[in-house]
Amino acid sequence: MPLKSKLKVLITGGAGYIGSHVVKALGEDGHEVAVFDNLTSGNREAVLHGELIVADLLDRDALRKAMADFKPNAVMHFAAHIIVPESVKDPLKYYRNNTGATIDLLDAIQEADVRLFVFSSSAAVYGNPETAPVSENAPLMPINPYGTTKMINELMLRDLSLADAGFRYVSLRYFNVAGADAQRRIGQSYKHPTHLITRALKTAKGESPKLEIFGTDYPTFDGTCIRDYVHVDDLAAAHLDALRYLGEGGSSNVFNCGYGHGYSVREVVAAAKKITNIDFCTEETGRRKGDAAVLVADNTKIRETLGWEPRFDDLDYILKTAWDWEIKAG
Ligand code: UFG
Repeated sequence: MPLKSKLKVLITGGAGYIGSHVVKALGEDGHEVAVFDNLTSGNREAVLHGELIVADLLDRDALRKAMADFKPNAVMHFAAHIIVPESVKDPLKYYRNNTGATIDLLDAIQEADVRLFVFSSSAAVYGNPETAPVSENAPLMPINPYGTTKMINELMLRDLSLADAGFRYVSLRYFNVAGADAQRRIGQSYKHPTHLITRALKTAKGESPKLEIFGTDYPTFDGTCIRDYVHVDDLAAAHLDALRYLGEGGSSNVFNCGYGHGYSVREVVAAAKKITNIDFCTEETGRRKGDAAVLVADNTKIRETLGWEPRFDDLDYILKTAWDWEIKAG
């Protein structure tokens, strides 16, 4: 559902995979957007609407200038490092970039008196949850530094909203985001992809000799990890729903964003082979550090409170759009 009033939205990380799909959705809905991105993992061409400010979040002057020049009504914060295994190896990089930079951003938006904020959080805040599906009330017990940075940011937002009644935020806890724009304009284009679906498709393309399956001894029906794969356009729509909710006076809140059911690594691999029609090589190896066995969203709250209605809850469609994007990328 389109937002009633049009907003000016500053989007950090808007040249990245998820951010660029949100920029597309906001632009198509008639909002004015400005992207703030240092292009370390984003791409200039991915910004389909609005102005691109190439700068780093840790550059406070650039941040202040962007706020002063653009005068946003709302900020959406995507910019972050996102690779779980890298965060295990280099935690300080994650604390500096994901947590330190968020403090600077919140300082800047307080100074500029921006009142509405949407934060890219992650199911990684739950760690290895005891329940599947997991609801927003489950304890936050991240098992890797990446998840810890997202949890700390959520706690900072909570405390800031308690200290300043005018500041309201929505934190969206993403599950496993995948797929690409149906018109192949934007998609995932990391230089060193680590995510299962992208790696499987790159293996099918012949860019890698084999796909490793990390761990076959998890307590799941086939021994491999289970994840809730959500199409990036459905996730993007959830951001517009969050903005509408805040714009209509909704109070600060946290929502899971996933479909409520999951697939094992083996199931994803089988579906990827079917969609690509390529029987690529796989190898079963040991567990990857920091992986939870099962992460599936209880999405009752986002459906009921934000009115989020997923349109692409279909693993084959997710894989097909991601594959079309891969083929286009050459
Ligand atoms: N996997 C493989 N082989 C690979 C890559 C991944 O077997 O080459 C496995 C992983 O071990 C895991 C599953 O596939 O069991 C999914 O791994 P991804 O790397 O695709 O995604 P993650 O579940 O680690 O993390 C993603 C996001 C996080 C988010 C999490 C929530 O990157 O931000 O989903 O569900 F927190």
